[in-house]
Amino acid sequence: MNCKYGAAITGTGSFVPEKIMTNFDLEKIVDTSDEWIVTRTGISQRRIADENTATSDIATVAAAQAMEDAGVDAKDIDLILVATVTPDMAFPSTACVVQKNLQAVNAAAYDLGAGCSGFIYGLATANSFIASGMYKNILVIGAETLSKIINWEDRNTCVLFGDGAGAAVVSRCEPSEGILSVKIGSNGTFDRLITQPAGGSRMPVNCEVIQQKLNTIHMEGSEVFKLAIRTMASVSEQVLGDAGLKVDDMKLVIPHQANKRIIDGIFNRLKVTSEQSYLNLDKYGNTSAASIPLALDEAAKNGVLNKGDNILLVAFGSGLTWGATTVKWVK
Ligand code: COA
Repeated sequence: MNCKYGAAITGTGSFVPEKIMTNFDLEKIVDTSDEWIVTRTGISQRRIADENTATSDIATVAAAQAMEDAGVDAKDIDLILVATVTPDMAFPSTACVVQKNLQAVNAAAYDLGAGCSGFIYGLATANSFIASGMYKNILVIGAETLSKIINWEDRNTCVLFGDGAGAAVVSRCEPSEGILSVKIGSNGTFDRLITQPAGGSRMPVNCEVIQQKLNTIHMEGSEVFKLAIRTMASVSEQVLGDAGLKVDDMKLVIPHQANKRIIDGIFNRLKVTSEQSYLNLDKYGNTSAASIPLALDEAAKNGVLNKGDNILLVAFGSGLTWGATTVKWVK
């Protein structure tokens, strides 16, 4: 598609809560071990929000950093997208709370529910709004307080997730720069694989539901595992092909940070080298929609990225959903 406008990531930010929960802390809660968690997932610790901290709070800090990094004023933001599965509440949207916090008085705002693929869905949406000429500056935020919906008695899930937020300012640029290709997809026939069954109109919360912990995360881990590798490898190949690029052309590949073994599986298929990979899931666990922007911001702040570098971002999550994008770094 030939467009008049390109869309580039011009600033990033991130924030994680202070409290660290290690695998050794989890050993005291459920029947697990540091050794099991590290070898099966690659995760050593995760961050946990306190009872007074909601998703909008950490989203706001990450977003403010991203705006400062981009040199964009709050009044110049046209749209705020918050990708999350842990909104402050069903409505109003977390994006509207962030809009208020930032005093982004000219911005439209809405939440985007695409599970762990939410940030890539957000970049795809921002890219289209900018390509159409409708908007110039869009805040794409991935933010989660998953600790609030974890069943702390379920060792299958409680060891995997953590809290955090990452944000990017996406702004109008030359068509040959910024987001070079992007693809998103879904398959709702696998909707049962990762789900929070209760809390919506299908199963409103009541005492029975709470007793059965149906308002927490339920996951069929091994099925997700296989689909995640196959799908993320495939969508990565598609966006590389669409951009006329090869894996070798990528300075960095940042996959959704869910499980080290899933990432190894993707990287083996794509032949991504260890120098090309940026991982931080050992420190934060799976932070769902926040995982990619959190890693991207860390990589940018650590000086790993230079102007003109190509990067590949790829995600997979509840829905099922998936997405990938190739981006030319413009900063
Ligand atoms: N500590 C110790 N043992 C555990 C455990 C834990 N925290 N969690 C599960 N086990 C046990 C299981 O009960 C099972 O025991 P059993 O054989 O006696 O029944 C055994 O470990 C193996 O379980 P299995 O599910 O086959 O392990 P696995 O190798 O598939 O790893 C996951 C489990 C969850 C780590 C893995 O499937 C996974 O990461 N899946 C993807 C999850 C994910 O990231 N989802 C989000 C994607 S967006």
